Amino acid sequence: MKNLAVLTSGGDAPGMNAAIRAAVRTGLSHGVSMWGVYQGYSGLIEGNFKRLGARDVGSIIQRGGTVLGSARCAEFHTEEGRELALRRLRGAGIEGLIVIGGNGSQTGAEALHSMGFPVVGVASTIDNDLYGSDITIGVDTALNVALNAIDNLKVTASSHSRALLVEVMGRKCGYLALMSGIAGGAEAIVLPEVETAPEQLAERIQNVYERGKPHAIVVVAEGATYNAEGLCQYFREHNLLSGYEFRSTVLGYVQRGAAPTCADRLLGTRLGSAAAEQIIAGNQGVLVGITQGELSTTPLDVVVKGKKPLPAWFLKAAEMLAR
Ligand code: F6P
Repeated sequence: MKNLAVLTSGGDAPGMNAAIRAAVRTGLSHGVSMWGVYQGYSGLIEGNFKRLGARDVGSIIQRGGTVLGSARCAEFHTEEGRELALRRLRGAGIEGLIVIGGNGSQTGAEALHSMGFPVVGVASTIDNDLYGSDITIGVDTALNVALNAIDNLKVTASSHSRALLVEVMGRKCGYLALMSGIAGGAEAIVLPEVETAPEQLAERIQNVYERGKPHAIVVVAEGATYNAEGLCQYFREHNLLSGYEFRSTVLGYVQRGAAPTCADRLLGTRLGSAAAEQIIAGNQGVLVGITQGELSTTPLDVVVKGKKPLPAWFLKAAEMLAR
């Protein structure tokens, strides 16, 4: 392989830059010319490529976001779009592609692979909902941002005797809510995976109030049946408010834009480097990830069909520890 390209796609995740840097420098150290594709699959379709040297990826390991840019590209969902992307790659003499991203990005990677183009995926999304890696790039940073916010919100909630509903990202997956809720000592956690009736939740919060706690923190996953504001509204409309005053805070994109933690820099570095090594060695059509603490490769067709469950122990513990 003489020319290898890297792209980042979907929601950006802290640690993506570490993965780009590691992939580029690993490729270069194997004598391969490295290319960056700008703006994800849109850039692939437009032929937005630039050759990258070692210095082009200098001083990016500590930065959040992705220096290559990212996009959600509807055109790439069409066959014509994907064929045009392949023509662009082949036209530029690029013989392999590393795709750093989550579910949607790896679905695109698997489509290119099934069209005969060498692709390797790198597990990267703050949602941690990607099958084939126990942990994905960006999760640790997003969790720490959420945790910081929860700690701060607990302080002001206590001062005012309030119940604070904190909404965290995660799309349809409750991983960020579950783990930040447990680490933040939340009184309740609302997940898409576990049906929670608002009445039941209100009763629980009332119970917390009656036990004399100065605050109640409820971490709500954005993908739950009712989001944070939805729950507050339901409580108001159904007269379910307890002794606390209720407020909601949506963390949103704040979780995505932070500088990567040490864990995410190391994970990005490990996976980015492994992706370059795998594709150069001829192991294509796989996702590189971490399984039981070890580097793993999983076929992309298995990845896109798989469903990752929430960690069972933490799911059980959430109930037991919120007292
Ligand atoms: O997949 C990462 C993520 O941040 C989700 O948690 C969130 O639901 C979604 O992306 C937001 O997408 P967009 O950036 O397109 O608004």
